[in-house]
Amino acid sequence: MPLKTPTTETMPFADRVRDWQDRIESALAAWLPASDAAPAKLHAAMRYSVLGGGKRIRPILVYATGETFDVPAATLDGPACAVEMIHAYSLIHDDLPAMDNDDLRRGKPTCHRAFDEATAILAGDALQALAFDVLASDTALEVTPLVRVRMMRILAAASGSLGMAGGQAIDLAAVGSDLTVAQLENMHVHKTGALIRASVLLGALCHPGLGEEEFAPLSQYAHFIGLAFQIKDDILDVEVDTATLGKPQGSDLAQNKPTYPRLLGLEGAKREAQRLHDEAQKALRGLGPTADGLRWVAEYIVSRGN
Ligand code: IPE
Ligand code: IPE
Ligand code: MG
Ligand code: MG
Ligand code: MG
Repeated sequence: MPLKTPTTETMPFADRVRDWQDRIESALAAWLPASDAAPAKLHAAMRYSVLGGGKRIRPILVYATGETFDVPAATLDGPACAVEMIHAYSLIHDDLPAMDNDDLRRGKPTCHRAFDEATAILAGDALQALAFDVLASDTALEVTPLVRVRMMRILAAASGSLGMAGGQAIDLAAVGSDLTVAQLENMHVHKTGALIRASVLLGALCHPGLGEEEFAPLSQYAHFIGLAFQIKDDILDVEVDTATLGKPQGSDLAQNKPTYPRLLGLEGAKREAQRLHDEAQKALRGLGPTADGLRWVAEYIVSRGN
């Protein structure tokens, strides 16, 4: 009997994830202005920070959610690029001396180290604007104009003062103070959870027939994995070396950041991440095997090594 060619159904997830990572790399490279297009230094900084690194978990969530509803990958490329551009911008600004003051990101010097602070600030600004332009103008994104606007509003809310930027403000204000678990959870849900949740919702909105009975469990799933993702990030900061992380180990401790391991201990933080993973899997119970990509991502988020 001839060997079956791997299909979407039979290919192991780790391989499919690599396909999605290749796909997002090409899509991002196509949207970003060329490094020699004026102003060349700014464009070079944008490409430097976006391309050739990162786990791409947010785009993977867009693709895996779309796959749950059989949405063509070409429709998902634009939303996947948009969430990764916002994420890359948030990392560039997060690393600035005024924020976490880190020198290493994705295994290479941070944007402000490789270029300069002003260029890093502008690269973040420009990536944020480009993310919304992609959602507004991508012709391969086959959704109604109303859905397009809804996507832009979801991404704006997840990125702004009531989402990621707001979470970062809470993070900075909390340095050196002892937050309660509820306050720490609120900070993590905003600074990291909001964009992860938006990634799932944008992927879901690409499905023209999406109903509330699908939207609600996906939104719950996304909430749980978003919080679990940042708890795991806090754990990795304690447990994993700089070379593996591609960013400085111990950065949180050095800056006296409130984190889950600091508040609950390492074991307590791990138990909480696992509990959130279990809740995320439960939220998907009503969805069939096409949601296995999302189940895989939930598992990956708590088991990942970097
Ligand atoms: C790091 O995000 C910052 C957080 C929000 C925790 P990722 O761990 O997704 O970073 P990359 O994109 O893989 O570099
Ligand atoms: C960053 O949280 C969250 C963002 C919105 C970028 P961290 O400050 O913990 O992220 P890392 O550890 O520097 O990647
Ligand atoms: Mg930070
Ligand atoms: Mg940081
Ligand atoms: Mg961190």
